[in-house]
Amino acid sequence: MGLQRLLVSDIDGTLVGDDAALRRFAAWHRPRQHRFPLVYSTGRSLTSLRELIARTDLPEPDVVVTSVGTEIYRGDQPFAGFVERIGTWDAETVRKVLAPLTWLQLQVPANQTPSKASFDAPGLLPEHLDAVRARLRADGLAVTLVYSADLHLDVLPPRMGKGEAALAVAAALGFERRQVLVFGDSGNDIELFRFGFRGTLVANALPELEAAAGPDAYRSPFRYADGVLDGIRHWRQHDVDRARAPRRGLQRRAGRSTSAALAS
Ligand code: GLC
Ligand code: MG
Repeated sequence: MGLQRLLVSDIDGTLVGDDAALRRFAAWHRPRQHRFPLVYSTGRSLTSLRELIARTDLPEPDVVVTSVGTEIYRGDQPFAGFVERIGTWDAETVRKVLAPLTWLQLQVPANQTPSKASFDAPGLLPEHLDAVRARLRADGLAVTLVYSADLHLDVLPPRMGKGEAALAVAAALGFERRQVLVFGDSGNDIELFRFGFRGTLVANALPELEAAAGPDAYRSPFRYADGVLDGIRHWRQHDVDRARAPRRGLQRRAGRSTSAALAS
């Protein structure tokens, strides 16, 4: 387990966006798949993600987290214990309660699920999000709001989202948080950077993620899948440096006593 790292990556704008870079990532990953189990974490539905995997060089993943962290699948099997978190929460009620807010445009039916109500609304400000939250709270609905690309608003149940889903997958596969590398480019990845995982922003990341990701995240100078590869390199080097640091301290101390012995 020591050398293994769990890779949790967003798809659109992160692994996907530069075909040549994706081919480089796939070629790197192929011989290392056992050391680097791969989790895709996307806003897409399972069907839409499967179609994308079939027509691109995306490697076959070990686990997929779809619909903005509200569904998890290993193969086609839902991950036991996660989807149940929805409890009595119901996205249809969210859609009804928010219908009077005419500045929220409901996305196409294919993007709606029982655990995700998705709207489009350009240029929302924090006060708009507060208004959405207040309206839902008045109906007794607690929610996770995810706003991305200055356009998409996803309304999710509490304790769901990309961060919670990554934590559930990591726990099930036996990874500690510091052994989980996460990669993203936009607002719907923010939750991935809030759980103590090791984060990488690809160079083409949007300012909304840049602002929210925190100082510990690595900002790669490389774009798309090249940024993912660079992030893996960065965090491996970080571990090597940390593993060496105490030894260097010992060598220094040993060196001092040797020279002290020689001097005496
Ligand atoms: C994907 C989903 C959409 C969501 C967006 C941002 O495009 O299809 O429903 O709003 O990601 O999370
Ligand atoms: Mg993205």
